[in-house]
Amino acid sequence: MQIGNQAFTAVQGEDVAFLGTRPIPAKPYYDPDWFEMEREAVFRRSWMHIGHVCELPESGSFIRRELEVLNASLLIVRGKDGQLRAFHNVCTHRGTQLVEEAQGKRPTFSCPYHMWTFGGDGALLSAPDFESFGLDKKDCALKQVALDVCAGMIFVHLGNNPPPLREWLGDLADQMETLPVARATTFSEYSYNIAANWKLTYDNFQENYHLRFIHPRSGRSACGPDNPFGYPKEYAFHDPHRTQTIWTNPDPQPTETIATAFARLAPRAMAEGLMEAPHGRKYFALFPSFFMLGTPLQNFVHVVYPISATQSRGVIRLYWVGEDANASERFGREAVMGVAREVHSEDIAVIEAGQRGLSSGALEHIHFQTQEALCRHLFNMVEAAVNAYRAEQTA
Ligand code: FES
Ligand SMILES: [Fe+2]
Repeated sequence: MQIGNQAFTAVQGEDVAFLGTRPIPAKPYYDPDWFEMEREAVFRRSWMHIGHVCELPESGSFIRRELEVLNASLLIVRGKDGQLRAFHNVCTHRGTQLVEEAQGKRPTFSCPYHMWTFGGDGALLSAPDFESFGLDKKDCALKQVALDVCAGMIFVHLGNNPPPLREWLGDLADQMETLPVARATTFSEYSYNIAANWKLTYDNFQENYHLRFIHPRSGRSACGPDNPFGYPKEYAFHDPHRTQTIWTNPDPQPTETIATAFARLAPRAMAEGLMEAPHGRKYFALFPSFFMLGTPLQNFVHVVYPISATQSRGVIRLYWVGEDANASERFGREAVMGVAREVHSEDIAVIEAGQRGLSSGALEHIHFQTQEALCRHLFNMVEAAVNAYRAEQTA
């Protein structure tokens, strides 16, 4: 069938047959023992996104970020030399957390307990009565964590011998560099807590099967008579990551809010050359729990941070190039964020209802169809990582 001048053909089962068609075990979506293995097998062995360079504009700028899944509190600092570094937010004297503020700017970091003071490069600068420890200051620096940046986005790796970030991202790194996020100077953010497993939460955002039932109004512009579920044009797999290419409805009929907001955001996007971003219709799903859709008018990033087998925390950001130029642009940015929150609020209840059902233990298996191929791919990747970890533990 044809809409306007654009035919739509959904991805077919044979295109994703290599992922298998088996029922998926339900336990990994609620079992605490499985979650304990994921901490080490998945999250300690992955680069995890935790911030953006625009949050650390000057030497001395810092942010504190919690990674509950690895019991870590991290301090990201821009040093005097302009370099970004990540440290455990842990004083090397007796372990007190150094910084309580979420962000700020300081030349040095002093521990509140006994006033050991560290520089932005993590070095111990001074400590009262230090002579009586019999220690060397250079052995007392903050514990550093691997940090790297792609497309302006900061990633950290808390495991041993991390691969270079660009190697981990593969060909997606260059594609992400073309998106507005790579040049962003500011962002809007909201975070949420959800009573659901991180995979269940994440999967909701990598399938459109639920779109017309859960988002009949807000999702309407993504669907058309030829493509009633708003299915993507293409799925692609870049182990362990995956992408989908969003279908463009030639007759979108957006809600009034979206139409008004986009009209107000378009002048900047045109002036900044963002409209030509070649990968603006691609949805990047980076292992383990990062999404990004970098359309020229709304560069959307969403990360799901696990807390326990059945609790997660999500952070959603919209990235912008340049401060609001005028009230019209301010309105556009707020309105787009409002729409994102609206769509998301529609999702939360059904994700939590899924968790309650799974946690009851009633099901041994769950099922994914062709258009839930990205969910299946995530499970396959997680299962492979857990199996590899288990094999190492028993060897
Ligand atoms: S624990 Fe930090 S100075 Fe003592
Ligand atoms: Fe949804």
